[in-house]
Amino acid sequence: MTGRATMTNPFYLRVLPVDAPFCGREKEFDALLSHAHSNTSVVLYSPRRYGKTSLVKRVQHQLEQEGFIALYIDISDASSVEDVASLIARGIYSFASKEESLLRKVMGVFKSWRPVFSSDPSATGGVSMTVQLVSQNTGMSLLEETMDSFDQLLQDKNEQFNIVIDEFQEIAGFRDGGKVEAILRKHIQHQSNCSYFFLGSRRRILSDMFNQKDRPFYKSSVNLELPVLAE
Ligand SMILES: Nc1ncnc2c1ncn2[C@@H]1O[C@H](COP(=O)(O)OP(=O)(O)OP(=O)(O)O)[C@@H](O)[C@H]1O
Ligand SMILES: [Mg+2]
Repeated sequence: MTGRATMTNPFYLRVLPVDAPFCGREKEFDALLSHAHSNTSVVLYSPRRYGKTSLVKRVQHQLEQEGFIALYIDISDASSVEDVASLIARGIYSFASKEESLLRKVMGVFKSWRPVFSSDPSATGGVSMTVQLVSQNTGMSLLEETMDSFDQLLQDKNEQFNIVIDEFQEIAGFRDGGKVEAILRKHIQHQSNCSYFFLGSRRRILSDMFNQKDRPFYKSSVNLELPVLAE
């Protein structure tokens, strides 16, 4: 014992937990919620640290209360097409691991990926999860196969989905970024019971992805810009 008083740090430097104090953003919250209700996809742009991730986490929390299946996929660490496939599979497995029957269903569909659970005191519930590739498939065909499996899950028309892809602009920097965009777009455009929120903080790259005529995601989503929070 040191006798030093311990106090919880009242400031959050990371993404805000959904139960932490939250300022403003009512308008953007309502807009995102209503786009999700109407299965409309959104590109959400702002400079770094303006609160994109915290805001969509809150919107997804609300959507879950309403019965939506909300998946959050952060691709900020991805540097290849395999990474993107793996992060998509991980996002789905991490949602499915909440319920055993759902986990079994996902394992039956995602044949190339298996979940790996390990004990991790810093993770929620003391367990962290990654996915392991269990097929010989690589590159674009792995992403194709992963998206095919995803489509199969989304075919359950009784469910409504909202999928966040955080730091979406990362894809544009890949060696075969254009092909990755094309594969994702091809699948996403047929998913009718689903909305996507594509988040990013590099205005030019993100804007080119969605506003240039020769790009796969051309005019596929509503643009929403997060302004700076008022003091
Ligand atoms: N509405 C809010 N009220 C109070 N604090 C907030 C709010 N939104 C975000 N913050 C705080 O601002 C910081 C940045 O938030 P967040 O990580 O959500 O931003 P971001 O736009 O996703 O950033 P990055 O581009 O780095 O991913 C965090 O410390 C978070 O706790
Ligand atoms: Mg963020």
